[in-house]
Amino acid sequence: MTLNLLGIATTGGDAPGMNAALRAAVRTAVTNGLKVIGFERGYAGILANESRLLDARSVSGIIHLGGTFLKTTRADEMRTQEGISKATAVLKQNRLEGLIVIGGNGSMRAACRLHEASGIPIIGIPATIDNDLAGTDATIGFDTAVNTGLEALDKIRDTATSHERVFVVEVMGRNRGFVALEVGVGAGAEVILVPEIKYDIDKICRMLIESKRHGKRSAIIVMAEGAGDSTEVTEAIREKTGFEVRLTRLGHVQRGGHPTAQSRLLACEMGAASVEFLLDGKKKHMTGIQSGRMVPVDLEYASTVEKPIEERLYRLALALAT
Ligand code: F6P
Repeated sequence: MTLNLLGIATTGGDAPGMNAALRAAVRTAVTNGLKVIGFERGYAGILANESRLLDARSVSGIIHLGGTFLKTTRADEMRTQEGISKATAVLKQNRLEGLIVIGGNGSMRAACRLHEASGIPIIGIPATIDNDLAGTDATIGFDTAVNTGLEALDKIRDTATSHERVFVVEVMGRNRGFVALEVGVGAGAEVILVPEIKYDIDKICRMLIESKRHGKRSAIIVMAEGAGDSTEVTEAIREKTGFEVRLTRLGHVQRGGHPTAQSRLLACEMGAASVEFLLDGKKKHMTGIQSGRMVPVDLEYASTVEKPIEERLYRLALALAT
């Protein structure tokens, strides 16, 4: 298929590796003779028609940087029909023949609607620390966020052990527990709380008391944001166990920093594959990785189907936390 002009944008919460994905997509497009315009601040930039021409040089020196040089926003307007129509008009005004959207769940949902309204081929690149998109084994930034979480957890473990305290550590994941699960398993957390699996706080307190009787004098509880109110969990454990308890929220620290090797490689492969999928005539897809291979996944499927959490990992963490 011959294409002349592509648009590209990074949208929603930033994720380490977005820059590497931009670089790969822009350079693959340029190598194939395409012109690329980059929209500033994600969908907000599309809605405001704010873009600039990107060439191979404009993406130099960014492969190792966190964040996104095109900037990003959460554009609530894209949830409305009015927003979709406005964005459609801008894409048409620019005579775009394809658009690449780099972002998370909400961004993919909006991309789907935008394709349906405009008919313009759109390929999504899954970039979110939450790893909550179906049809892909991993998303860009997830591995970096897990490693950032692990580094913090190792430090917290030092002070938890020294003071014989329980730490509740809240990690990101408003709706899903992928980050909490991998950080929890990797850090050897005694308890992992995720939105997908019900828990009983009294049972957890009994377990902590019991393990204290067996000589365990500190513990780490890794909790996803979406698994409940971390202040309430902290208070309940303090009241019911007699342990000294502290709460740490890792927050946006997990969204920043240099992308890990895994996040960069994924970004390079996905950026390049997305342009190839467009050239191949794909129209409404997200680039996924499945068993090490780049695959086009239906955008609707990717953004609406709930990706299952690895309960096997959860059970492993429990089994090892004796
Ligand atoms: O981008 C995903 C995410 O980091 C979630 O894990 C978190 O709940 C949310 O974004 C925070 O969003 P914001 O930066 O808009 O506060």
